[in-house]
Amino acid sequence: MKKKLIEVAIPLEAINTASIREKSIRHGHPSTLHLWWARRPLAACRAVLFAQLVDDPSSHPDRFPTPKAVEAERLRLFSIIEELVQWESTTNDEVLERARAEIRSSCGEDLPHIYDPFSGGGSIPLEAQRLGLPSYGSDLNPIAVMIGKSMIEIPPKFLHQAPVHLGAGGRTSYRYAEGLAEDVQHYGEWIRQRAFERIGEYYPSVEIPVGTNAAGGKKDGKVVAWIWVRTVPSPDPAFADVEVPLLSSFTLSSKKGREVWIEPIVDKNSKTILFSIRTGGTSAEIKAAEMGATAGKRQGFRCLISDAAITYDYIRTIGQAGKMGTRLVAIVAEGKRGRIFLPANDEHERIAHSANPEWKPRLVLQGKAQVNVANYGITTVGDLFTNRQLLALDTISNLISEVKKKIESDAISRGMADDARHLRDGGAGALAYSEAVSLYLSFGVSRLADISNAHCNWSRSANQAVHLFGRQAIPMVWDFAETALFSDMAGDFRTSLNSIVKALVRLNPASEGFEVQHDAQSMSYPENAVISTDPPYYDNIDYADLSDFFFELMKRNASDIYPDIFQVLATPKNEELVASPSRFGGKDAAESHFLNGMSVAIANMARGANSNFPTTIYYAFKQSEIQAEGISSTGWATFLSAVMSAGFQIVGTWPIRTERDTGLKVGMNVLANSVVLVCRKKISTAEVITRAEFIRALKRELPPAIAELQAANIAPADMPQSAIGPGMGVFSRYKGVLESDDSPMSVKAALQLINRELDDYLGGIQGEFDADTRFAITWFEQNGLKAGDYGTANNIATARGISVESVKHAGIVESQAGKVRVLRRDELDDKWEPGTDQHLTIWECLQHLVRLHEKDGISHATSVLLKKIGDKGEAVKDLAYILYDINANKRQDAKEAIAYNALIADWTELSRQAATVYDTRGDLQQRLDL
Ligand SMILES: C[S@@+](CC[C@H](N)C(=O)[O-])C[C@H]1O[C@@H](n2cnc3c(N)ncnc32)[C@H](O)[C@@H]1O
Repeated sequence: MKKKLIEVAIPLEAINTASIREKSIRHGHPSTLHLWWARRPLAACRAVLFAQLVDDPSSHPDRFPTPKAVEAERLRLFSIIEELVQWESTTNDEVLERARAEIRSSCGEDLPHIYDPFSGGGSIPLEAQRLGLPSYGSDLNPIAVMIGKSMIEIPPKFLHQAPVHLGAGGRTSYRYAEGLAEDVQHYGEWIRQRAFERIGEYYPSVEIPVGTNAAGGKKDGKVVAWIWVRTVPSPDPAFADVEVPLLSSFTLSSKKGREVWIEPIVDKNSKTILFSIRTGGTSAEIKAAEMGATAGKRQGFRCLISDAAITYDYIRTIGQAGKMGTRLVAIVAEGKRGRIFLPANDEHERIAHSANPEWKPRLVLQGKAQVNVANYGITTVGDLFTNRQLLALDTISNLISEVKKKIESDAISRGMADDARHLRDGGAGALAYSEAVSLYLSFGVSRLADISNAHCNWSRSANQAVHLFGRQAIPMVWDFAETALFSDMAGDFRTSLNSIVKALVRLNPASEGFEVQHDAQSMSYPENAVISTDPPYYDNIDYADLSDFFFELMKRNASDIYPDIFQVLATPKNEELVASPSRFGGKDAAESHFLNGMSVAIANMARGANSNFPTTIYYAFKQSEIQAEGISSTGWATFLSAVMSAGFQIVGTWPIRTERDTGLKVGMNVLANSVVLVCRKKISTAEVITRAEFIRALKRELPPAIAELQAANIAPADMPQSAIGPGMGVFSRYKGVLESDDSPMSVKAALQLINRELDDYLGGIQGEFDADTRFAITWFEQNGLKAGDYGTANNIATARGISVESVKHAGIVESQAGKVRVLRRDELDDKWEPGTDQHLTIWECLQHLVRLHEKDGISHATSVLLKKIGDKGEAVKDLAYILYDINANKRQDAKEAIAYNALIADWTELSRQAATVYDTRGDLQQRLDL
């Protein structure tokens, strides 16, 4: 059995940096095909799969006989991963082919199947397919299954085909799914035009008054959105016949210097509340506007006409009686210089209210989907929309079923097989093609529903509507933005489809893909499947409840394509592995449902997994879990236990970061909230050992593993989570570890011991340093940069066989008037040269390196210094780990910790650049200029 790269080391920093960067990429990202919650970054999935399949060089002693050769080969593989994880590489055939060739060279031409039994948004199967591996995904949820099919199963069926729409022509070649994408766009446009003919009257333009801005005087100004507010009858009996608005804020735009806000004009006599649009105003007015009609934070509202309190209880009663209304507050239009805000008008309000849809989703909201809204009488999916929005969704859905026939006949006239075979039956002819295009069109409807519902906030800072699922719940909103369907902006079907088209054209499948609906607990895997998966975690996200929002819409559009999947009334809930107390009858019952089910699913994986490869399982911590309990949190320990009892041995744990920590937390002991577990099938003859034997085994096996991690430049902040892997590798190899009282050692206790060994390891490195550096470490640990007594300093120095004078001579400390203090980096001589320093210490080398790195980052000067430090580099790096640990854990000095973490994070790149430096004389630039 060959060891795989992921069992030893991966270039974590590069993977994490690319994963963080990927979060800000929207255009063309496959996640824009359809919303799904908690997707893993593609960069991480790609790197994990690669490292899971490619042999670690230590598996080939014939080719890499020495540690040096192994190290060099690992670095070569790292550089492939570093390139592979870049977003730009997702469509770079050369980079992808290099990675595929490497996989083939480790696995042979008969490539293993990759299987993800919790495929969700499809990230893992998609990346497997990109790497040329036969790719399988399954999920319990019909929406996830549709996403999976749209990503990995459908595009390979129509690879490199030209579009079928009759207007296509001129272009001779289409790659991958480009033709399909063009058809989605074309038929989407066809639908939009017909939708305009049918319901365009419900989307009036607006007159922009003269003087408003450069667009002033325009009769048919384009509406971007209508801002509505929910209303209730005034609780004051004297005004019970007045509908009062629940405005959470009067602010419409908070852009600095260009604030726009609503001023309610209240007339008690006529019992009216009108809204005028104000710009400018004093800062007090602007501030007051932010409060809207609220009575203070979480205090409910106040009646704008009588000032009576409007409690949430009152609103709930009104909502549940179906008496909550809506009122138009303002109209947002497109001006020549950005968005402009116009007063509401009766005509626009009347038109909106005249919409009368024939269809409304009736599915009752459940769990997290209803928790914020049901109390207010919003109990079904249909209740989340205005009538005009429902009319739009209904009209477009009808048109999708109409256009399907047209696509089929166009495809036949373009020569596609008229074989009447459905996609679900393996068809790839005209009927199947029409179904494929319709499925993507129906994704456009989902996107539209997400940005066109009565729970979309108006972002006052960005001046745009915010889509519904910014969070993993449906929020209650008091004032909402109703986007305009034919605006060519967010809320237009065309805009929704554009994102889908952009994602489709970038898909580049290099193998077949299959997505099916399965419960991970009861499915059987294809023979020899390599498993990589990202299961749900506890109660983080109730996928089924949330995805009901899309279910009925998609069922309308896709049930004739996949009738088996859509024969149910709602997304399956009972088998879903989430610890949802409301669904499973309380917290304890929910927890055991999750744990038992997850154990069954993982045991199923352990049975089905190919024993020649490790299995990778993503684990998502909750932020609160990490903060409260750190590395040995109960949830994490429980999950690890479940994985081990299911028949796996854990051999690696890689922290994956998807968020750049901000502020002072950067690089501090902030644990990543996602870890990739690397598991191997457990050998059943495993023996039982004692606690003492376990500790001995840790002491023997952990140091070389940590040294490998350091050699891979795992950042100090990621070291505690990364070291769990090899530590757990020892623990889980045995059938059990017995405590001194013969009770079995808990995973939590094992995690604590592993962490302790890591600390001891870092402490133990000190013996390798020069005595001055060892003095400085101890002194710094006790005093930081503050001055301390000479007497104590002298004792510490003497114990190391030197004097304080020696450390002073080395340029590490200042010693005067009976006090000793470590010099700050800014006090060091910036002309310092390691080559000429007669009393060179590791401490100085590190401090000078950090000084330059803090100033310039990865720069020529920093790389030159690293080059000059030469073979002391490894010791310098060791010291950086130690000082990180002291600052982050013992001295709680975030700023210092960050400096060391950042240096290690950039170490790979600095070493690479240092290797290319031939002339280390600092005046190179000056000489070149001359
Ligand atoms: C964390 S998500 C996967 C996300 C995915 N890796 C991505 O990047 O988009 C977990 C998935 O498990 C699915 N799931 C929950 N219970 C399941 C079960 N019993 N069988 C199969 N899938 C299940 C959920 O529907 C959800 O899509």
